Formats: sequence, structure tokens, C-alpha cells
Amino acid sequence: MQIVTTVKEIKEIIKNWKGEGKTIGFVPTMGYLHEGHGSLITAARSQNDKVIVSIFVNPMQFGPKEDLASYPRDLKKDSAFCESLGADLIFHPEPEEMYHKNFSSYVDMSVLTEELCGLSRPVHFRGVCTVVNKLFNIVQPDKAYFGQKDAQQLAVIRHMTEDLNMNVEVIGCPIIREEDGLAKSSRNTYLSKEERRGALILSKSIFMGQKLVKEGMTDAGELVEKMKAVIETEPLARIDYVKAVDGLTMQQVDTIKAPVLVAIAVYIGKTRLIDNFIVE
Ligand code: PAJ
Repeated sequence: MQIVTTVKEIKEIIKNWKGEGKTIGFVPTMGYLHEGHGSLITAARSQNDKVIVSIFVNPMQFGPKEDLASYPRDLKKDSAFCESLGADLIFHPEPEEMYHKNFSSYVDMSVLTEELCGLSRPVHFRGVCTVVNKLFNIVQPDKAYFGQKDAQQLAVIRHMTEDLNMNVEVIGCPIIREEDGLAKSSRNTYLSKEERRGALILSKSIFMGQKLVKEGMTDAGELVEKMKAVIETEPLARIDYVKAVDGLTMQQVDTIKAPVLVAIAVYIGKTRLIDNFIVE
């Protein structure tokens, strides 16, 4: 497995692979990899000749008061993990390699990015769309893999590839959880022991919401209130949002009628965690 840090070098390698008729599966990440990322790499491995994982903590998608500086990093461990899952190449550029001094082109999406995480993280999706667009142009993947854990991000990327006629198939993969239910996340490492226990309230409310829908609840307002009430039982939790939205447009719905995304964002102490389920 190779680790490549420059755009010039990776483009050369990809040109050769394409010349040999190889298909390319791509998993964009910000590193500090866990089994959630691993499931995307494994899916890519099973469906493509070559697998590329990018590890790039993208400054553009962090707000000024967010955790860019403290975002966890461990390239050595990540490399061993990628290699064990059969990845062929890690692309690990420095920020200066991705954003030259005079960088000034952005992918800015409306509507889908104005709900849920877009409200509390106003610059986030512009940064995500811009970097994913750049990475797609560099890697030219046949298939790209994204987790349902970041459901709005997945919807936004699908929409971007369609709007901009990109030649890449976007594949969504299910949420991977810890044994006790907490959705795996690189940010879980921020949690103290006490907060880690408190964080369980997210999956608890997700599982209860799922159960209520299964039992026939169709009133979105009622569902959201019930889920909020569960989260509010946890003293360490502060709700950012609990919402039911249309699975494609991300606009709020009154009635739970597929496809609906029920998504939550909750602060546990200073750490903002997200979780969701989809009604299909
Ligand atoms: P990151 O948070 O590192 O996540 C990389 C990919 O792993 C995303 O598609 C995310 O949805 C997926 N993922 C994370 N936790 C998961 C879990 N528990 N189960 C399944 N999939 C999971 O998302 C980003 O990085 C960035 O925004 C990026 C797309 C790389 C652009 O910078």
C-alpha cells in the first residue's frame, strides 16, 4: 500500500491504473479511522480493482469556533488499518497542497444544506462539497463510499454529483455502532468516561423513535417530542436539533411517510454528536 501526499503523484498513478482498465473505489475520510470507516473500505474492496482512501482533515468545513486544531490524528495507526483491509493507496495531502494561496472556487449548494447541520454549522457543507469535488477530480473514482451516519452529507453529495453531472456512483453504507449502541465516530474520543455513558442517550432515543414508527406512529411532531423527552432525561445532553425531514430534500415533514430521515444532533458536554434513522 502506498501513501501519496501530492496531487501530481496520485494523478500519475491513477492515469496508469485507468490505462490498464482498472476500476477505482474511493473512500474519503478525515482519518482517525474506526470500524465505521472500515465498513466503507471493505465495501469498496469488494466492488473495485483498486481502493483509494483519502485522509485529509479539511480546514474549509470547520467553523471558526469548531474543533479543527484538536481533531484527532494518527496516520500510523490509520495506515495499518487501511492496509489490513486491503486498500491500495492512501492520499494524505497537506492543506497547502489542496488549497493554494489564491484558491477561490467553491461548490455552494442551496436548500439541502439549509436544514439540520447546515443551521448550526453554516460553512460546513460548502467546505464538504468543495473538498469532495476536488477529491473526485483528483481520484476520478468509478464508485465513492459514504456512511449513512452523516445522512445529510450523503444526500448532499448525491445531489451534487447529479446536479454537476459527475461520473461517479455514490454508494451509501449503513451506520456502524459500538456494542452498546453509540454510533462510532472519531469525535467519541473527546468524551470523558461520564460523557461516554451520557452519550448513550442518542442511540437510545433513535432506537425508541424507530420502534414508535414501526408500531405505526405517523405524526412527525409527536415522534420528535417523544424523542426529545428521552434525550432531556440525560443531564449532560443539550439538544441541537431533533427533526424529521424528507429523505431527499431535507425539508421538514409533518407526516412520517417514506422516505423520511429522522436525525438528531446533541451536545454531550462540549462534544457535538449526531445520529439518525431512515424510514424506507
Ligand atoms: P469522516 O467523518 O472521517 O467520515 C468519513 C466517512 O465515514 C463518511 O462518509 C462518514 O459518513 C463515514 N462514517 C463515519 N462514521 C461512521 C459509522 N459509524 N458508520 C458508517 N459510516 C461512518 O465525513 C467526513 O469525514 C468528511 O466530511 C469528508 C466526506 C471526508 C469530507 O471532508
